[in-house]
Amino acid sequence: MRTLVRASLSVALGILLGSGAAPAQSTPGPSTSVTDAAEAQQLVFLLQYVGSDYGGAVANGRIVDEAEYRENRDFAALIVERFGRLRSSMPPAKASPLEVAVRKLDELVSARADARVVKGVTEAAILLAVQAFDLRSFPRERPDPVLASRLYAESCTPCHGVSGGGDGPRAKELNPPPARFTDPARMNTAAPYLFYNAITLGVPNTSMASFSDSLSDQERWDLAFYLWTFALPRGEGAPPPPLTLSLRDLATRSSADLAPEVLRQAAARGQSIDGPRALSWLAHLRVHPPSLSHPQQQLARLRQDLERSVALVARGDTDSATDLVTNAYLAEFEPLEGELDRRDGGVRQRFEHGLIEFRAAVRRGDRQAALAIVQTLEETAGQAEQLLVPGGARKGPNTRLALVLLLMAAALGGVLLVWRIGKETGVG
Ligand code: HEC
Repeated sequence: MRTLVRASLSVALGILLGSGAAPAQSTPGPSTSVTDAAEAQQLVFLLQYVGSDYGGAVANGRIVDEAEYRENRDFAALIVERFGRLRSSMPPAKASPLEVAVRKLDELVSARADARVVKGVTEAAILLAVQAFDLRSFPRERPDPVLASRLYAESCTPCHGVSGGGDGPRAKELNPPPARFTDPARMNTAAPYLFYNAITLGVPNTSMASFSDSLSDQERWDLAFYLWTFALPRGEGAPPPPLTLSLRDLATRSSADLAPEVLRQAAARGQSIDGPRALSWLAHLRVHPPSLSHPQQQLARLRQDLERSVALVARGDTDSATDLVTNAYLAEFEPLEGELDRRDGGVRQRFEHGLIEFRAAVRRGDRQAALAIVQTLEETAGQAEQLLVPGGARKGPNTRLALVLLLMAAALGGVLLVWRIGKETGVG
């Protein structure tokens, strides 16, 4: 049934996207129009579908589902075409890597490449598109499961059912039937960002409509995370121990992708758990996500990653080191950029340039240069840390101490003054 949907979906998307008004090419350069952003979001949605569905079409270089495979090929071609329209409104430095990625994807899908490789390329392309068009791939605020459950009951149960099994009162009349959020295979390979896009854009040629007018952006994120409620095992007991996964990771990466990290963290605490347990912890975390990381924690992670990458360069593993710096830049520096810019544009710029230079040095395998740059970067990171103190003022503990000393001195001075005056006037 799904595959049938996909066939018509590709056609529908083609029509939908193809007939859209030509994007306003007002100002060339990095500022993108609203139309471009909307098209870029569609592009991301297509990439996400290939990333999550291709594994069901090809296994070990063989087609396991002919219809599904055809659709994935259609999608890959559509992605190249979509990109072609967007390219002219992108700065070349951002367009070229994305172009390489979408063309590679098309080639890989045609060649029935390994699903993991295909998924890796879709992920890289999504990151590039998100960056180039300034799309938001994770919520601004912590998703609220209480609010989401109310919204779900109001707007989604008629089709998806009270327990998310795709068996609401209207389900019988619908073809294709509504998605089942109880299906482990789907819930382990999808991510909230994909569901957010489905809720925002609708799924063409199905009864799944766009909720972008009736629900706010945050409400759509609330729902996208909440849907993992239905994937939780029944009578699921104690909540998982605190795990360090960012809201961004939980939003953009599937449970199957995140499970190894959960197993690693559990092992580091001396807990040995199995795969299904890791997946249920992840479902739990999506329904009860961690609060957004504190800017300073984020900065601390960034500094750790820089240190780790210097260590990797020292070991001669420049590929891993370069990946680490790239990821740290995207996941840890970028989210702070806006806030830093507001507080001190100079520090933001020095930080950014430092990171870019650092990455270049790491990539060259130039340990000496990397070490030199990382020292300057440390200084800038320290300045950034001061700027990001909640409240924004640069009141470090030292300033506070100085203030206390000053007050003490003033008080002492006052006492001395009173004492002197008293002595001179003979009162004391
Ligand atoms: C009129 C029926 C209907 C309503 C109401 C409805 N949906 Fe859907 N939904 C569907 C159908 C049909 C599909 C497509 C299933 C497919 O692709 O095979 C779908 C697909 C989805 C998907 C994509 C799932 C996937 O695996 O890719 C998400 C997410 C989703 N719906 C969430 C919601 C949420 C949240 C609400 C309430 C705000 C909602 N839907 C309301 C019928 C409905």
